[in-house]
Amino acid sequence: MPARWLELSVQARGPVQDTISNFLVENGSTGVVCGERSLRAFFPEAVDDGALRPVVRHYLRGLRDIFPDGFVGRTRWRVIAERNWHDGWRDHFKPQKIGKRFLVTPPWIRPKDTRRHTVLIEPAMAFGTGTHETTRSCLEFIDELCAEAAPAKALDVGTGSGVLAIGMARLGVREVLALDNDPVALEAARANLTLNGLDGAVTLSDTSVGRVRRRFPLVVANIILETLVELAVPLGRCVAAGGSLVLSGLLHEHVPTVMGRFSGFRIERRKERKEWSTLLLRKES
Ligand SMILES: C[S@@+](CC[C@H](N)C(=O)[O-])C[C@H]1O[C@@H](n2cnc3c(N)ncnc32)[C@H](O)[C@@H]1O
Repeated sequence: MPARWLELSVQARGPVQDTISNFLVENGSTGVVCGERSLRAFFPEAVDDGALRPVVRHYLRGLRDIFPDGFVGRTRWRVIAERNWHDGWRDHFKPQKIGKRFLVTPPWIRPKDTRRHTVLIEPAMAFGTGTHETTRSCLEFIDELCAEAAPAKALDVGTGSGVLAIGMARLGVREVLALDNDPVALEAARANLTLNGLDGAVTLSDTSVGRVRRRFPLVVANIILETLVELAVPLGRCVAAGGSLVLSGLLHEHVPTVMGRFSGFRIERRKERKEWSTLLLRKES
């Protein structure tokens, strides 16, 4: 682990946080922590700081032109010692009770409450620590859908850290197929599966959902709007007749656009958290 780290703080709120996080990870950040009105990205001190700063400055200037006033504010860089970085970073991740049965927690805190199903997630480069509204809402739907009896199999498209796939396996889904097109996410998901002792319960793959020929009683996809729209036909095809499709990653105003693409589905329930909508769709029998 490097002795010192570069920390970049950016005042940013709303969905632009995800856009900025992705950009910073692509440019060498090994972790991004999003808060209410700002985010912090960490870079090993070995990154070429002189080259990085103008690239970030240029990118954020472009975003300020695209997003309305106040969405992207000031930035601050500082060098921090490893000891402080470690503590500061870890302080952001607390065990979280989600739904009636989940407890999502970083591996360095193992709560004694064994009445909940523990999902251990190492905060790393992949999205899905459980802190995001979309992840929370998906986990709640999974909890509700598995309340009476867990479906025999499920598909997770855009698994990221593997948090939803691990949650489904924990609640008794015997066969989970988890897809992601990002090798870094697959690597993180694999590590989290091992952490949870679930290597055999979840199959990870970089296969595109368009190539999946099987039908699942439960499909979850927490991806951005453009991808949900692009993948609507293959996603819909993977859901068994009468089955459930959980969609997230949408802003409230995007719901009509998405529903226009998923013919043969009706909205059964909807969760709204901040600007994010999560839909539970039912496929007609
Ligand atoms: C917002 S994250 C969701 C992570 C996790 N499932 C959760 O709910 O927190 C979206 C994930 O979808 C992946 N992704 C984006 N486009 C994809 C595609 N066409 N096929 C598979 N995965 C995709 C990204 O790499 C990313 O890991």
